[in-house]
Amino acid sequence: MMKTIIEPFRIKSVEPIYFTTAEERIKNLENAHYNMFRLHAKDILIDLLTDSGTSAMSSQQWAGIMQGDESYAGSPSFFLFENTIKKITGLPYIIPTHQGRGAEKIIFTVLGGEGKIFLSNTLFDTTRANIEFSGATGIDLLCKEGTQPTIPAPFKGNIDLQALEKTILEKGAENIPLVILTITNNSGGGQPVSMENIKATQQICQHYKIPMFIDACRFAENAYFIKLREKGYAEKSIPEIVREMFSYADGCTMSAKKDAFANIGGFLAIKDDALAMQCRNLLIITEGFTTYGGLAGRDLEAIAIGLEEVMDENYLQYRIQSTSYLTNKLADAGIPVILPSGGHAVYIDAKQFLPHIPVSQFPGQALACAIYKTGGIRSVEIGSLMFGKYDEQQQPIPANMELVRLAIPRRVYTQSHIDYVAEVLLEVNERKNEIQGLKIMEEAPLLRHFTAKLQPVVA
Ligand code: F0G
Repeated sequence: MMKTIIEPFRIKSVEPIYFTTAEERIKNLENAHYNMFRLHAKDILIDLLTDSGTSAMSSQQWAGIMQGDESYAGSPSFFLFENTIKKITGLPYIIPTHQGRGAEKIIFTVLGGEGKIFLSNTLFDTTRANIEFSGATGIDLLCKEGTQPTIPAPFKGNIDLQALEKTILEKGAENIPLVILTITNNSGGGQPVSMENIKATQQICQHYKIPMFIDACRFAENAYFIKLREKGYAEKSIPEIVREMFSYADGCTMSAKKDAFANIGGFLAIKDDALAMQCRNLLIITEGFTTYGGLAGRDLEAIAIGLEEVMDENYLQYRIQSTSYLTNKLADAGIPVILPSGGHAVYIDAKQFLPHIPVSQFPGQALACAIYKTGGIRSVEIGSLMFGKYDEQQQPIPANMELVRLAIPRRVYTQSHIDYVAEVLLEVNERKNEIQGLKIMEEAPLLRHFTAKLQPVVA
């Protein structure tokens, strides 16, 4: 057996990447107000900002794009999309949306509102924002292992079952419209949730008559981790594992920009017909008619094909291996990363990496800037810039963790690109004492990380 896990594809179409000088990058950072979202993509060599919408589509998907039927109502592309998702999830009502947050906006508008509480292992930022925008509250109940970045455990995305039950009793089941399991847990390091945990969550929910939804963006990666790490699943196929995962759910939201290899798209899948009806009514006034939901027929086609492709084990093996290769390379060099490696990204613990920068000066953001400056690589902070809040006295409340995420687009970069990323990180590591903290100069009240302007704190 060969040891090297090779990319399970060859390249048919290429696009250039953009080289810059160190001086240009310093200037670019200044112009972007030290915010990665304000950088121009043309000034970036390797873009690890996100694995969302950045996948390379297959020749089959491109062929599907040509076959997409653009009928306003009843397009065959919709029925392919619907049947594929029904088959994969076992859920009966399939509602297309323009992306994941489109699905979130609909479900939380229907179920949210003042006084309502949503419980989760960890809500992604757009999910939390949609909940809060409806007037409701979101509570994260991540298992203890999940909050310990460098202590390895197989399923660090699990929800804390004891805390779940305790919170339901405290807040009252009648105030909790949904429990949401984010699979894999993006904000907590791309860590998987075990089948046992999904099942136990469903049992608790059923007992208190609360529906359980899955945020299914990275469902196939999660299923592969279950196959690798959970007893009793080694011999099961990925579609079987996926089907079991969804069998415990009353519905899901999905961003097809992740594990469907699509550049845009998403959906809601729902078990309850009355809830599906309410969602469809809202869909029509916000996203579009029920058989396209904000997407072109060609997108529906590409998503349907991508959802099948992502469950290929050769692909998943390469995917998970490639992420852990980078994680382990950084760990071996003494860079504190979340261990074990997650599915779609490498997460650096910036608090530990840059102990000279206080949390109030955004060590994660400072590190993201240093990585760009050193090697033209774009990453993203998942820490206090993204999740920090203010208390009533306007004092900052930091996030639980200060992470920098290097998200790996699917089927886009080769092994040598990944080796280059490791080299840049090693160089940053050698000169980390020179990295300065940042302060916010301007910010929006919601999702501030997208638009905030920052400046280095001058010592
Ligand atoms: N849920 C999770 C777990 C996500 O990671 C994302 C997006 C969404 C929901 C929203 O989906 O972008 O299609 O509206 N995550 C991207 C990221 C943006 O970079 O992690 P969307």
